[in-house]
Amino acid sequence: MTDPAAGVPDRPRVVLGVAGGIAAYKAASLLRLFTESGHDVRVVPTRSALQFVGAPTWEALSGQPVSTEVFADVHEVPHVRLGQQADLVVVAPATADLLAKAAHGLADDLLTNTLLTARCPVVLAPAMHTEMWEHAATQANVETLRSRGVVVIEPAAGRLTGSDTGKGRLPEPDELFAACRALLDAPTQDLAGLHVVVSAGGTREFLDPVRYLGNRSSGRQGIAIAQAALARGATVRLVAANVSVPLPAGVDVVEVVTTAELQAAVVDAARSADVVVMAAAPADFRPADVSGHKIKKRDDGRTPVIELVENPDILAGLVRDRTGDATPFVVGFAAETGDADGSVADHARAKLERKGCELLVVNDVSDGKVFGQDDNEAVILGSDGAEVAVPRGPKSALAHAVWDEVVRRSGRRNVTP
Ligand code: CTP
Repeated sequence: MTDPAAGVPDRPRVVLGVAGGIAAYKAASLLRLFTESGHDVRVVPTRSALQFVGAPTWEALSGQPVSTEVFADVHEVPHVRLGQQADLVVVAPATADLLAKAAHGLADDLLTNTLLTARCPVVLAPAMHTEMWEHAATQANVETLRSRGVVVIEPAAGRLTGSDTGKGRLPEPDELFAACRALLDAPTQDLAGLHVVVSAGGTREFLDPVRYLGNRSSGRQGIAIAQAALARGATVRLVAANVSVPLPAGVDVVEVVTTAELQAAVVDAARSADVVVMAAAPADFRPADVSGHKIKKRDDGRTPVIELVENPDILAGLVRDRTGDATPFVVGFAAETGDADGSVADHARAKLERKGCELLVVNDVSDGKVFGQDDNEAVILGSDGAEVAVPRGPKSALAHAVWDEVVRRSGRRNVTP
C-alpha cells in the first residue's frame, strides 16, 4: 500500500461501523486503538447507534466527518466509495437487526450500503442479549454470513446490560483490535467456509485434589494457529487446556483440564470439522489412582510410589476413526530431541508414520527454548514426503506457514469475502 504521490506508505483504511447497542461506548476505545496505531478510520454509525454515542464523539476521535445516511455528501458517492476503498470493515457492536440486514443484503443506510460494496475482509462483532443471540433466526444469519467469508466474532459470556449474565457481551476492544490486525496482516481469505478445530496448552493429571502432573506448554503456538485461521476466514473452535495467555476473541473456546476432557472435546468438535490441528501437549500418562484426599507425608519416611497408566493417543485416534472421505485433515505437532537412537528428523519422520496424520510440525526442543517464548522455528513434514523449514520468527508466522501447507494440499484458492 503506497501512495506514489506522497512517497510514503498509505495508512490502512478502516471503516468502523457502529450499530445501536449499549456496547457502542466500547467502540470508542476500539477507534482509539486504530487511530493511535496509524489507521485511517471512518466511523459509520447507524441512526440508533447515535442514541447511545453521539456523532461529535466519533468525529472528534476519528478526525473525520460522520454520517449515517447515503444522502449526505452525495457528490462523493460515499455509499459506494467507503466500502470499495476500505482495507477492513468492522462493525462493533453488531446488533441482531444489523446481522439480519447484512445476511439478506438490505441497504437502507450508509453502513448497510458499505457492507454491500466492501471487497475487503469484513468483521462483525455481535453484542446482544443471550436469547437474541441464540434465536434460530440470528444463528441462521450468522451461518449465512460466515459461509460468505464474513468473520463473525463469537460474543463473550459475562454481565449483560441489566443484572443478567450470559453469552452476548462485546469482547474487549483490545481483543477486537487484535482480531482485526490479524485480518489486515492475513495474506488471503483462503480458509473461508472451513470449520477448524485447534487444541492448545498442556493437560493436567491429578494425583490428589491439589497436585497434578503437567507440562510446560503455554498454549501460545496453538492460539496463534487459531488466530491465523480466523484471520483467513475459518470458523474456529479452540480447545484450550490450561493455557497461560489470554484467550483470543472471535474463536469459540472450550476449556478443558485433563487429557480425557481434551479428547472428548476434540473428538466431538472433529465430527463437523474440515481440519483439526493438535497443537496441545496432552500428558502421555496419568496416575492409575487419584487420591480423594491430599496425600500426606509419612512418619516412617517412606515416599509414595505413583503408578502411571497410559493416556489414549488423541491424534492417532482421530486419524484411525476417519470416514471414507478422509476428513478431517489432521495436523500434529511434535517436540523432539535427538538421542542415541536417532536425530530429531529421524524421530519426527517415524512419528509422522506412526500417527498417520497429513502434516507434522516439528520443534527441536533440545535446548528447551520453545516453551513460553514469543517466537518459534520448525520443520513441517508432510505425509507426501514434503519438508518445509520455517525459520525462527513470531509464532504467528509459523501459524500462517502451517495454514499455507494445509491450503496447498486441500486445493483451496483465495476466496473473496
Ligand atoms: N498427542 C495426542 N494424544 C496424546 C499425546 C500426544 O493427540 N496422548 C498429540 C499431540 O497433540 C501432538 C502429537 O500427538 O500433536 C505428538 O505429540 P508427542 O507428545 O510428541 O507424541 P507422543 O505420541 O507422545 O510421542 P513421544 O513418545 O515422543 O512422547
